[in-house]
Amino acid sequence: MTKSHTLTIARTIDDLRAITKAWRQKGETYAMVPTMGALHAGHLSLVEQAESMADHVLVSIFVNPAQFAPNEDFDSYPRTEEEDCKKLSSYRVGAVFCPNANEMYPSGFCTHVGLEGPAKGLESEFRPHFFQGVATIVTKLLLAAQPDIAIFGEKDFQQLRVIQQFSRDLNIPAKIVGGPTMREADGLAMSSRNAYLSEKERKEAVQLITIMRKTKDKIHGGMPCHSALDEGLADLKSQGFKPDYLSLNESESLTPIKAHTLTREQFGTCRLLAAAWLGKTRLIDNIEI
Ligand code: PAF
Repeated sequence: MTKSHTLTIARTIDDLRAITKAWRQKGETYAMVPTMGALHAGHLSLVEQAESMADHVLVSIFVNPAQFAPNEDFDSYPRTEEEDCKKLSSYRVGAVFCPNANEMYPSGFCTHVGLEGPAKGLESEFRPHFFQGVATIVTKLLLAAQPDIAIFGEKDFQQLRVIQQFSRDLNIPAKIVGGPTMREADGLAMSSRNAYLSEKERKEAVQLITIMRKTKDKIHGGMPCHSALDEGLADLKSQGFKPDYLSLNESESLTPIKAHTLTREQFGTCRLLAAAWLGKTRLIDNIEI
């Protein structure tokens, strides 16, 4: 265990468990915020949420190789542990768990969490490896830490639903809670991957949420859902995006909405989800409909 900027850093599961055991023995609760580091204001808002929900906050930082395909950005994914710890030291963070790959995937590791339900479609069609990698690491992190609460950003809305589903199915005791998406002043959802955008792309990136909000207004205004989605996809293309999907889904199960138009009663029960490439950067976002 080491101390950095007044933070306690655990690098092994044994060290992590020594910390959490001491909290448990005193009858204190703790909320966990699992991250891959490169912390921005979106992550820090989850840390603040965790502070308000439990006696202690535990943050994990681990760039999980299992959720990246060989052609994806695992090698270039920003790794900024020292800066991350500096940022966390302004919060009431009891410990940071920073394992290395060998700690989480020792030689001979061969178990993976398989998924159905909300893991089907959307991201899975374009990143088929992704949710198995996320589910396996999140299961391992939650079993290693055994927090009372674990908080995940709604920015990765399908990921949140997948984690809620497998935690329920596998009887993982942590309560899985979502934290609202944080946005830049122009509306772009905060993401560690925004750092990949060039200055020009950064200005253009706001069109993703702008077009999504326009699509929402059209659906609320009674336009047939498929027409609003088709127009949204065309608008994204005309603004220089290569969209993977723009999809209207039921908010809990994430099943696609087949209705021609939405009734008033359906407002608030659906989610518009999008993934689109801008140059070499893949952006995702979602809003309630
Ligand atoms: O959202 C993330 O940062 C990651 O997918 C997570 C949940 C920490 C698992 O590696």
